[in-house]
Amino acid sequence: MVVKNGSKSWQGQDLVIHDALVLQPDGDVLGGGVLVRDGLISDIGSHVRADPTMPCLDAGGHHLIPGVIDPQVHFRDPGLTHKEDLTTATRACLRGGVTGFLDMPNTIPPTIDGHSLAAKLERAAAVSRVHYGFFLGACNDGSNLSCLADEDGPLTRACGIKMFMGTGHGPLDCRDPAVQEAVFARGSKLIAVHAEDQDRIEQRRQELLDTHPRPADLHSIIQDAETALRATRRALAFSERYGRRLHVLHVTTGAEAELLRHHKPAQVSAEVTPQHLLLDRSAYKRLGTLAQLNPPLREETDRQLLWQALVDGVIDCLATDHAPHTFAEKARPYPRSPSGMPGVETLLPATLSLVQAGRCSLAQACRWLSEQPAALYGIANKGKIAVGRDADLAVVDLHTLRTVRDADMVSKCGWSPFRDWELAGWPVATVVAGVVGYERGVFNEDCRGSALTCGP
Ligand code: DOR
Repeated sequence: MVVKNGSKSWQGQDLVIHDALVLQPDGDVLGGGVLVRDGLISDIGSHVRADPTMPCLDAGGHHLIPGVIDPQVHFRDPGLTHKEDLTTATRACLRGGVTGFLDMPNTIPPTIDGHSLAAKLERAAAVSRVHYGFFLGACNDGSNLSCLADEDGPLTRACGIKMFMGTGHGPLDCRDPAVQEAVFARGSKLIAVHAEDQDRIEQRRQELLDTHPRPADLHSIIQDAETALRATRRALAFSERYGRRLHVLHVTTGAEAELLRHHKPAQVSAEVTPQHLLLDRSAYKRLGTLAQLNPPLREETDRQLLWQALVDGVIDCLATDHAPHTFAEKARPYPRSPSGMPGVETLLPATLSLVQAGRCSLAQACRWLSEQPAALYGIANKGKIAVGRDADLAVVDLHTLRTVRDADMVSKCGWSPFRDWELAGWPVATVVAGVVGYERGVFNEDCRGSALTCGP
């Protein structure tokens, strides 16, 4: 199939990617190309060259790496589509080399049962440019406990259970330790926790909001390191009591990283975001409430401990927590300003800039961005470039620095916390199941992903 889009010819599921530096599973880089048949990688090597009888993607001598799987996003669809929708979000994914995402349940309606999950899957099948998975959220009143424990029900179509131990709204405000424990006690599906203790947040809001002037960085003081540590400790205890698969979302503090370093049972995994690795509390000076997110930005020492934990394998993978809000919403004075920042467009260049700076290898970066998210969520056949694997790929330019500009963002919210940063490693092209979805600034509007099947 060749799809015409203006002057561009878009390739179908057979494709030759040539003149590339192909990242191999062992970390070596091989000059040559990749042959794709029916959306699967069927050959790799220096002998794979441009073929006039087949659709071709010229990698221009750049690196070819596995497509990124972002295991934590808030794409706002349905119900909050003035901030983002699945079309804008997944175009942003393509621009950022992200070929798969796992989306959180805090939409309107919230994703808390088979009906709301099916509606999301149906909409994604129609419009999502990349592969997709959705979480089911845990409700604080326990009303969906039986759904979350039913191994043969809607959960089979979900990537996991999301539990907001803190900062969840409406039915997703799963703050009650007794309900949290009940969710851990029954079933086997992965539970991903937003680890902040809601009671402590509310108590500190009462104490601190009335007595302090309210600069945005009060957010980091109210939702302090202890707020996160308490919840992470509790989630670990539940996971151990029931042997339950636990994923700690966006770890932010050195204390949590050290806790996990010394005590991380085999069924536990953890992630960190680029914003918590690269920004600290000093960012409020430049960004004001744009720097406000949950869990909040921390200290420089936390950043260092998080980085060390990632390098040492204590933290398993990266994720964006892409949580777009409009400028107008973010411009409200704290604490009425919403928490969250976008990330899918900058995840890959922010990480590959660390490769360029010599802080990690390309193989490590791709392990955190692709291989590990696939492994942690039991997503088969993705995350590495190897014969027989799905052809979800990104061509990246490791050498050209480009400045992050709000005006260039494809995400509907139209801003980035990394605005004005010079980053390397921008995608030249993004390939989804053998289809070129994005190439050198031009989108293939016909590119579509499919539902990710996630393991237990
Ligand atoms: O800052 C945040 N905003 N953190 C989250 O985990 C969710 C979120 C949102 O949905 O806006």
